[in-house]
Amino acid sequence: MHRIVLILLAALGLALPRTSAQVKADLRGIPATVYQNGQKIRIFSPDVSETVRIFVISDTHIFRSDEREDPFREYSDRMAKAYNSTKHFLTGEKTNPEESLLKTLELAKEHKADVIALTGDMVSYPSEAGVEWVKNALDACGIPWFYTTGNHDWHYEGMEGTEQQLRETWTQKRLLPLYQGYDHKLYSTEVKGVKLIFLDNGIYEILPEQLDAFKKEVKGTQPKLLFSHIPFYAPGYSTSTVAHPKWGLAVDKNYKIERRLPWPAEGFGKTTVDFWKAILKASRKNGLLATFSGHLHTQQSSVIGPWVQFTVPANAVGGYFEVTVEPL
Ligand SMILES: [Fe+2]
Repeated sequence: MHRIVLILLAALGLALPRTSAQVKADLRGIPATVYQNGQKIRIFSPDVSETVRIFVISDTHIFRSDEREDPFREYSDRMAKAYNSTKHFLTGEKTNPEESLLKTLELAKEHKADVIALTGDMVSYPSEAGVEWVKNALDACGIPWFYTTGNHDWHYEGMEGTEQQLRETWTQKRLLPLYQGYDHKLYSTEVKGVKLIFLDNGIYEILPEQLDAFKKEVKGTQPKLLFSHIPFYAPGYSTSTVAHPKWGLAVDKNYKIERRLPWPAEGFGKTTVDFWKAILKASRKNGLLATFSGHLHTQQSSVIGPWVQFTVPANAVGGYFEVTVEPL
């Protein structure tokens, strides 16, 4: 056919054979969709009415301290030297935890984030100077922020006590400014109709009251996200995950160097496994759109049926996620 005739037909929409009705991809009945491009994650749900932009930051590992730390140096010396100078995980350029956090907060401001979600190991040990520096940096950026601890924020290596005792003691003594009045074990907040739930799973095991609180928080079908430090078990993920069937003494390589009690030989208790099941159920029935964690320091993700899990790369090396929850 002559080229000019083809152009004319194309303009009239007649160049290609068409059925009487246009065929289009149809997402009706789909509860949610997830898209990822590097550090940007977009979650779409028909139950979301306004776009919510969340910066997820984890594992900054601030090591700052001052003379108030002197009586505790024997417990914090190793971690105080762990991340002093780092390389950016994408560019390889030299950076450090403080510079990295400030740059990420600057970006969150530029991109007009609605909220910042912090998933633990913001400090490498509970130094007062470190906690104050983190809080001041967050307050100065002007964006609402919410925090939960990792396995290092409260940990003084070699100090006597169980993980649960040490977490409770040093959370109460040092980390309360970062919790801003919320219960460290589990709490929630709401941003533009999306519920953000924060769980402290920094000791791996989940407490019965945390499971009860989670079940109450997830009732109904309101869109929700869960934030915690340690990722949850998914086939393919490391054994350093909550409810992993192989977690326990046999795979605990770090208890000597971290000078803590080893993981129990018998593995996880029933409550922790029940919590894992409760997340799966909430993903299926209660609008839980995704879960976010840190701890492993590298970007990872998993899909277990309706449960989508993301692990954010460490902020100590420049990592973060920019997450939007958008109407579908
Ligand atoms: Fe960490």
